[in-house]
Amino acid sequence: MLAITTASAAGLNVDKSQFDETPDGKKVTRYQLTNRNGMQVSLIDFGARIQALKVPNKNGDLADVVLGFNDVSGYINKNKYMGATIGRYANRIANGEFKLNGKTYELPVNNGPNSLHGGNQGFDQQLWQAQVIKPTDAVGVEFSYLSPDGEMGYPGNLVVTVRYTLDNDNNLRIHYSAVSDKDTVINLTNHAYFNLEGAGSGKVLSDIAMINADKFSPIDQTLIPLGEARSVQGTPFDFTQPTAFGKHSGDKTKQLLRAESKQGGFDHNWILNTDGNLDELAARVVDPEAGRTLEVYTTEPGVQVYLSNFLRGKFAGKNDKTYNHWGAFTMETQHYPDSPNHPSFPSTQLQAGEKFSSTTIYKFLPQ
Ligand code: BGC
Repeated sequence: MLAITTASAAGLNVDKSQFDETPDGKKVTRYQLTNRNGMQVSLIDFGARIQALKVPNKNGDLADVVLGFNDVSGYINKNKYMGATIGRYANRIANGEFKLNGKTYELPVNNGPNSLHGGNQGFDQQLWQAQVIKPTDAVGVEFSYLSPDGEMGYPGNLVVTVRYTLDNDNNLRIHYSAVSDKDTVINLTNHAYFNLEGAGSGKVLSDIAMINADKFSPIDQTLIPLGEARSVQGTPFDFTQPTAFGKHSGDKTKQLLRAESKQGGFDHNWILNTDGNLDELAARVVDPEAGRTLEVYTTEPGVQVYLSNFLRGKFAGKNDKTYNHWGAFTMETQHYPDSPNHPSFPSTQLQAGEKFSSTTIYKFLPQ
């Protein structure tokens, strides 16, 4: 397939090629960003998603550290969310219902009694417009999408852009912006499933995680926050000091069993200490054997860390690798789940004409 290469300063490049087609015959394009360290980020316009992410380790060996597929059908039929931009509301809204300006809005219920990740045809299932961009010292793609008024039950025509850029310090920066013509709610995230040893290479339980959060959001049986900000101290949720994911995965404590009813697993919102400060580390995950580290920085107040409790090796992904239980972790930077139904949480309301803006950086270190 013909690939168009756009060369940029200092080893930063974008390659554009056809990835696949949607079931109704629309072309799906892949944009591959590279930097001078050999890091490669493949983005596709279907779901404005990260399709592959090759990162060097301490010996310079590259591994693709995100789960995903080599065709669109995988992202429709096997796992919709891998690497995708999630919206209009990332995470759950209780009973698929919220009130805004005195009016009740009904959303598609697609996860037990709740609405998850913007409904069954969320932003992850849309074909976005794309444009290559070359800001100073970086290279990237800006995706945009018009979510019509009433789509998946949400009010307001929402114009949303997601801008991914890569620089030579191995920062993958994701900047979201949006504007609506009616008051609405919004919560955007990226749903990359990470495995720092390489997608499909086994469990992530020996990864050492630090989450800069003194509190987390305890949940009910359907994974909706109870409303409380609970201290992590003395609980399995204390990652303020570097701790292996596996230290408590599988504990039969109430909160872990609520997220994963048989074994007990993590699928919770941590309330970050960073106060929206993009310069302050929100989380770090080190895979000492692989020799790769991920650092997360964000303007968002929370992060959903999900340990792939529901992956069960039932399907193959890229390169015929099987994706297993606890075989990946997510770092979904976002506002708290179900915020529209919790007035005490940081607000996810976006007023008509107001500009929404949010930034997250995934930084990779060879150590
Ligand atoms: C949720 C999980 C869900 C997963 C689906 C996460 O954000 O918290 O419960 O299964 O997304 O990919």
